[in-house]
Amino acid sequence: MWSIEDTEFMSRAIKLARRGLYTTRPNPCVGCVITLDDQILGEGFHIRAGGPHAEVHALAMATQRADGLADLKGATAYVTLEPCSHYGRTPPCAEALIKHGISRVVVAVEDPNPRVSGRGINMLKDAGIKVDVGLLGDEAAQINPGFMKRMQSALPWVTVKLAASLDGKTALSNGASKWITGPESRRDVQRLRARSCALVTGIETVLLDDPSLNVRHSELGLLAQQVDADSLLQPLRVILDSRARLTSSAKLFAITSPILLVSCVDYPQAEQDTWPEHVSGLTLASDNDGRVELTALFSHLGKTCNSVLIEAGATLAGSVISHNHADELILYQAMKLLGANGRNLISLPDYTDMADIPSVELIDERKLGDDTRLTLKIRS
Ligand SMILES: NC(=O)c1ccc[n+]([C@@H]2O[C@H](COP(=O)([O-])OP(=O)(O)OC[C@H]3O[C@@H](n4cnc5c(N)ncnc54)[C@H](OP(=O)(O)O)[C@@H]3O)[C@@H](O)[C@H]2O)c1
Repeated sequence: MWSIEDTEFMSRAIKLARRGLYTTRPNPCVGCVITLDDQILGEGFHIRAGGPHAEVHALAMATQRADGLADLKGATAYVTLEPCSHYGRTPPCAEALIKHGISRVVVAVEDPNPRVSGRGINMLKDAGIKVDVGLLGDEAAQINPGFMKRMQSALPWVTVKLAASLDGKTALSNGASKWITGPESRRDVQRLRARSCALVTGIETVLLDDPSLNVRHSELGLLAQQVDADSLLQPLRVILDSRARLTSSAKLFAITSPILLVSCVDYPQAEQDTWPEHVSGLTLASDNDGRVELTALFSHLGKTCNSVLIEAGATLAGSVISHNHADELILYQAMKLLGANGRNLISLPDYTDMADIPSVELIDERKLGDDTRLTLKIRS
């Protein structure tokens, strides 16, 4: 069904879509390539929410190259996600493709939002356009795991990030942990943060390490054309602090990107009065251990966040995994041995039956300097 050229142009569209990884959220990353007689006439990607969609960029370039002809009869558009059919902040892309006389549209993956899914495709078909769906669909969906999941379940994609030694320790017994992993891994973590809508940690990490939890453009190691410092989006910093212990002397308050303090009791009013504008509080129910109830947390985050990165100690990482909220675990494993009294990686329940332990599947393994990065899927 697919020609070599089809696959080549859709691969190009997927590559373009990835260029939006650091700037488009909460919108999905989408790429588009328009061809005529197997020559690329136009291409583009969705740069940021509220801005033109990938198809609009590609149509503008194609029209210009076709000597200003609005009619692109005979042209094929390759799009990584089903073109939208509704008026949002921009007019529907399906309508734009129809207006420009595109003859064929190849879609990698349908829009997962049940309210949208299929409508863009039907709009194109009703206008007499040939539509082929499914080329490199898995690859295209993998660019937007958070968007795909949230549109179907109203929950964010949850990644637990951890760094550990070969013997599974995250710090020496006295807490020293700088640095277990090398600069390549730390740069990779900055990129993970930069792609996440929210970064969640536990109060103990904040009290012990006093981190800033922001993305530092200079540490991303990305080219300016991939993302410049001004377009870089900071993730929402979320601190789980059931007993409302955090005070505004914490270093993270000094950086003005948004912070959400989640507790099970209200912070004292006198404390709240010291919060700068970028800090807000959310009181949620507690679980059986008196801690922030994670289902309520992720439901709340799912209202706005596609992807959530958990960067916490063994306690919160263990809670997220053992309560089946983690979609993915990213483990940076350093070629170091920290000893038997070092701090453990994940606090999990004391399983007594092998049938109860979480099963983990290796998805990807790669070297980052001297470290190894494992991407793992956790099955409940
Ligand atoms: N190796 C790594 O990748 C990595 C990453 C980050 C941090 N760390 C290290 O981890 C150490 C701290 O680890 P930690 O295990 O003590 O603390 P943690 O996991 O960062 O925070 C745990 C605390 O979060 C609060 N919390 C609120 N809701 C929770 C829930 N549903 N489940 C679990 N916790 C919840 C609890 O305190 P309340 O009950 O008071 O709310 C809990 O004690 C630090 O030394 C830091 O350096 C390592």
